[in-house]
Amino acid sequence: MKTIIEPFRIKSVEPIRFTTKEEREKILEDAGHNPFLIHADDVLIDLLTDSGTSAMSASQWAGVMEGDESYAGSKSFYKFESAVKKITGHEFIIPTHQGRASEKILFTILGGQGKFIPNNTHFDTTRANVEFTGAEAVDLLNEIGKKPEVKADFKGNMDIEKLEEFINNVGKENIPLVMITVTNNSGGGQPVSMQNIKDVRAVCNKYNLPLFLDACRFAENAYFIKKRENGYDEKSVLEICQEMFSYADGATMSAKKDALVNIGGFLSLNNEELATQCRNLLIVTEGFPTYGGLSGRDLEAVARGLEEVVDEHYLQYRIRSTEYLGEKLVNAGVPIIEPPGGHAIYIDAKRFLPNVQPHEYPGQAIVCELYLEGGIRSVEIGSVMFGKYGKDGKLVSPNMELVRLAIPRRVYTQSHIDYVAEVVIDVFNNREKLKGYKIIYEAPMLRHFTAKFQKL
Ligand code: F0G
Repeated sequence: MKTIIEPFRIKSVEPIRFTTKEEREKILEDAGHNPFLIHADDVLIDLLTDSGTSAMSASQWAGVMEGDESYAGSKSFYKFESAVKKITGHEFIIPTHQGRASEKILFTILGGQGKFIPNNTHFDTTRANVEFTGAEAVDLLNEIGKKPEVKADFKGNMDIEKLEEFINNVGKENIPLVMITVTNNSGGGQPVSMQNIKDVRAVCNKYNLPLFLDACRFAENAYFIKKRENGYDEKSVLEICQEMFSYADGATMSAKKDALVNIGGFLSLNNEELATQCRNLLIVTEGFPTYGGLSGRDLEAVARGLEEVVDEHYLQYRIRSTEYLGEKLVNAGVPIIEPPGGHAIYIDAKRFLPNVQPHEYPGQAIVCELYLEGGIRSVEIGSVMFGKYGKDGKLVSPNMELVRLAIPRRVYTQSHIDYVAEVVIDVFNNREKLKGYKIIYEAPMLRHFTAKFQKL
């Protein structure tokens, strides 16, 4: 088989700025060893997130010029609505400015004290929006999904037995909806199988509960189904997406991922009464229902992005570039969550730095070193992001200590990825030199964004 190439050529380029190691030492020091506080201009390869960082196509940029900025009933809204309907099959389509705005609206209406929302794994904003209403966000990921070193096709699957047990324990009247996140970002970008979605649907039918998808990376999930699940290799990705959404009563979406745009989102629903409530809230918080916090040009770009993302040459390149980076790292002995997920490689910091204890933040040590060594920005997903303090004041760490290398869509070429692999492998080969960190400043909530660190 020949090399899988980037299925595009580049007609507009954005220079990246090179810095010296000495400069980066100073930059990192000034940023309190927290890459969130570094100027993007001081970063060579930015793998902080795949969200809102996509390169838009020539057709999307042309759409920006054609955007209809009418306050109500804009032409661009109807294009957007029809593109979302084509994929989801859902009846009521509500634009929002990004994923968490959809979550905020949905959970404001359906959440509340005494309610429980099960999910395979809630993303942080989903959890925050559930908990903000007083409801409880519950993760029911299958056991294999929690083991970084175990290879399996669908490590994002929900544990069906646990779901049913959970419904029986808390009572179905206290569960306004069940959610599945595709792909499972917080669990390594791992896909969910069609069978699992169907099985969750069957449980929901039994207890008469609505099922929602957190659909940010629906196309990447569909491509994994096509490649890995029996009976789907002959189906088009669009057909697979349509089948996935057909089992759901609604979806929340961040268009900043699989709609290939820099801002945008939506809420799709089949229940008319709920849609009316959501639209009423939308008018208060986001805008009129035919723009929902977006401009006409944004809606136009989303409509075109949704067409482009189900292109199978695009998805083959997308999933392969992540896998390619994963393969290079695994071959050099770097421990990662295996197999690679769709949008990112997750380094297993516990195995990478076994001598740095969770309270010394091994993930942060790797994040800092990747920046110092190669100007690469990544993000810690471990004790810095999710650590909490117990009653005794001691740090309570999450299960896993990870470093995420998220790959922006259509932005970097194979040689950028080769360079990333070289830097990670260099850092790994010199891992004995790495020291842990301590936190010298932290905010009371979401501390990872603004915390300052000192090397031990
Ligand atoms: N759900 C999932 C699974 C996500 O990954 C995100 C965002 C959201 C919801 C919220 O969407 O950012 O548009 O409000 N994830 C980004 C990330 C921020 O870096 O993984 P948003």
